[in-house]
Amino acid sequence: MIIILFGPPGAGKGTQASALCEAYGVPQVATGDIFRAHLKNNTPLGQLARSFMNNGQLVPDEVVWKLVESRLSEPDCAGGVLLDGFPRTVVQAELMLSWVKESGLALSQVLALVVPDEELVERLAGRRTCLDCQASYHVQYNPPTVEGVCDRCGSHRVVQREDDSEETVRKRIATYHRETAPVLDFFKARGLATEVDGLGEIGDVAARLRQALQG
Ligand code: AP5
Ligand code: MG
Ligand code: ZN
Repeated sequence: MIIILFGPPGAGKGTQASALCEAYGVPQVATGDIFRAHLKNNTPLGQLARSFMNNGQLVPDEVVWKLVESRLSEPDCAGGVLLDGFPRTVVQAELMLSWVKESGLALSQVLALVVPDEELVERLAGRRTCLDCQASYHVQYNPPTVEGVCDRCGSHRVVQREDDSEETVRKRIATYHRETAPVLDFFKARGLATEVDGLGEIGDVAARLRQALQG
């Protein structure tokens, strides 16, 4: 089964992904996380991606698709996958749907988290991210049990993401409305998208997502 977790920057895709992956037994493929891993290892792809990411812009479609296509062909994705942060242009969505057709897997649903812009800014301003496993925290709404230490992997490198400055966050949200929001219309027109209210307690949002997948 293929699940697409869709939504603007800060909507809670990363936060919700692990529980969904566990429940449905599929790996999480998050394009942003893959780029950040390249960035950390200072690869050419990481350097290329950084110039777009830190300006709040999207990495070019052909670069993204090459990466996603190769990741999807790995054995752990044979039974399905949860996509986080992909597709985010109509071109990417079209490439994805042709791939799905060829793969013989079913695209179960596009779950679209709905969160208003001002809430996104507040969430991203207070976000802290683990440099080692990419787990997401919030200084107020979802702090790690021990300050500065990642609950998931024990790393002490829980920091603010390079692209989480308020200026870049505003640019990312504008990019979302211009280039990524049309992807939701694309899937809606094909009867494939369900909008899910992303406001409220993290556990409540998780329950709504599970319900949307069952329904
Ligand atoms: P990416 O890493 O995908 O970032 P994003 O889409 O901007 O989304 P975020 O990771 O910022 O938010 P999220 O929805 O995961 O929220 P989270 O769960 O962390 O992409 C980064 C960049 O890479 C892009 O800008 C682009 O340059 C490039 N890129 C990636 N994919 C690409 C693609 N396909 N094509 C082209 N370029 C691509 O939660 C946010 C905060 O809110 C946290 O602090 C969390 O604790 C808190 N929170 C979560 N849920 C709640 C809740 N219910 N209540 C209160 N707080 C909450
Ligand atoms: Mg994320
Ligand atoms: Zn960690």
